[in-house]
Amino acid sequence: MKLIDGKAVAEELKNALKQDVSEYKQKTGRVPHLAAILVGDNPASMAYVGNKVKSCEHVGFKSTLISLGSDITEEQLHEEITKLNQNPDVDGFIVQLPLPPQINEVTVTLAIDYRKDVDGFHPVNFGRMAQGLPCFLPATPYGITMLLDRYNIETAGKHVVVVGRSNIVGTPISILLSRKTKMGDATVTLAHSRTKELQKLLLQADIIIAAIGIPGFIQEDMVKQGAVVIDVGINRVEDDHHEKGSKLVGDVDFEHVKEKCSFITPVPGGVGPMTVMGLLMNTYKSANKEIYP
Ligand code: GUN
Repeated sequence: MKLIDGKAVAEELKNALKQDVSEYKQKTGRVPHLAAILVGDNPASMAYVGNKVKSCEHVGFKSTLISLGSDITEEQLHEEITKLNQNPDVDGFIVQLPLPPQINEVTVTLAIDYRKDVDGFHPVNFGRMAQGLPCFLPATPYGITMLLDRYNIETAGKHVVVVGRSNIVGTPISILLSRKTKMGDATVTLAHSRTKELQKLLLQADIIIAAIGIPGFIQEDMVKQGAVVIDVGINRVEDDHHEKGSKLVGDVDFEHVKEKCSFITPVPGGVGPMTVMGLLMNTYKSANKEIYP
């Protein structure tokens, strides 16, 4: 078993990006600028956004955090989005999900200028991704492909089973891996809560991508010997042995599954840091007008 060290890979990529940002600054006299809107005080969202801001500092980006109360109206949020859409100094921005119940996430996603949508959630970017056109790739799937690439894990001709069909991970990664590209050419099965005989299906998988949000869902008896297991889950569970009284675990029963794998990602320190990397790469591309000249 080989551990896929997402934290170390993200660190390497950030150091390389820092160098690129320094050259960009010399050439243009400015630095790439990422903004984030955080609504409410969900502890997980606060931690994710905090990581994103810290990573911006690491690579030399400017970052702006806009924190809004959980009782904000949809209209007020749209006003903030319009300001960021129109601000020429902002290369890209994100609205951290989930949002409070009074706010429609679809409307919010549609309101973001797709040319600044560095999360890759806007249907224009999603559609362009599906057709293999230049676009901002969704940050987590982008991070996963960078990780597979870094560990020379071949995807061509492999059977990938993705578990979970969310708009931000399961569905886009299933499309990306089946495209005719370097990190694609796989045969992909997208499994979900209505899939029949999931265990039988998973036992045929060369690569499993777990993105369902259920702690420890993927068990040892669901994994073929030598499979690659990518765990996208970030679940907080109670743990009396931990000082905080809780700990983060993935969607994979790591301790039991790891012995069967050729490669496996840990949680934390696997896919998570690479999601942030995807976001930084998109922001850098936006600053360089690489996707939308
Ligand atoms: N919530 C969980 N993951 C993400 C992400 O990648 N981007 C945003 N904006 N919200 C999220």
